Amino acid sequence: IAAALRPQDAAGLRIVVSAGGTREPIDPVRYLGNRSSGRQGAAIARAAADRGAEVTLVAAHVDDVVVAELAGIDVRRVGTAAELGQVMREFAPTADVVIMAAAVADYRVAEVAQRKLTKEAANGVPPTLELVENDDILATLARDRREGQTIVGFAAETPETGEDLVERGVRKRRRKGADLLVVNAVGWTQGFESADNTVTIIDARDSVAASASGTKREVADAVVDAVLAVRA
Ligand code: CTP
Ligand code: CA
Repeated sequence: IAAALRPQDAAGLRIVVSAGGTREPIDPVRYLGNRSSGRQGAAIARAAADRGAEVTLVAAHVDDVVVAELAGIDVRRVGTAAELGQVMREFAPTADVVIMAAAVADYRVAEVAQRKLTKEAANGVPPTLELVENDDILATLARDRREGQTIVGFAAETPETGEDLVERGVRKRRRKGADLLVVNAVGWTQGFESADNTVTIIDARDSVAASASGTKREVADAVVDAVLAVRA
C-alpha cells in the first residue's frame, strides 16, 4: 500500500543493480572477501521498484534477511567477480540504468586449490597467494554502454579530508567512464553493517550533483533522484 502511494517517477525504466561483495575462492573452504553487506544496493533496488521501475538485483553474498525485503524484484545470486561480470553483461544490454553498488574483488587467486590447504603440507612455511587482477566490470559496461543508457558506480573511500573524498571520487568517475559516481567514506567503524549512510554523488561535469545522509533507503532515493535528474 505504501509503495502504491509513492510517485511512480521511475516507471518505464529497466534498472539493473549489483549489490553485496564478491568472494574469491582460495580453496574449497576459504575465500578472499570484503565487508559489504549489500544493504545499500538492495535499498536502491527496493526504492527503484517502489517508484515503478522494473528491477533486477544481481546479489553477491547479500544476507537472506536483506533479500527477504525484495519481493517483486528479480534477484540473481552470484559468488565471484567473474560470475558477477557475466550476469551484469547479460542484463546490461536491455537496461536503461546500470548501478554497480557491489564491492567487486580487485584480485582473484591465480590457482585455486582443489583441496583444502593444510599446515601439514605447508610444513612450517606460510604459503604465498599469487593474485591476478579481475576485469573492471563497471569500466567495461561504461565503455560498451548503449545510447541513452545511464551508468552509475560506487566508491567506498578512506579519505584524509572531505575535500580529498570528492577529489578521489572525481578521479575515479573519470577512470571508469561512469555518468555518476556515488562516494562514501568508510573506516573500521564507519559505513559497513550500519543502517545509515552518507554519500556524495559526483556527475559527469566533475561536480557534486547531490549529497545525502540518512537511512540507506533515504540515500537510495537520493541516488534514484540523481539518476532521474541526469536522464531528464
Ligand atoms: N568495480 C567493478 N569491477 C572491478 C572493481 C570495481 O565493476 N573489478 C566497480 C565497483 O562496483 C564500483 C566501482 O567500480 O562501482 C568502484 O570500485 P572501487 O573498488 O572503488 O574501484 P577501483 O578501481 O577498484 O579502485 P580502488 O583501487 O580504490 O579499489
Ligand atoms: Ca577496488
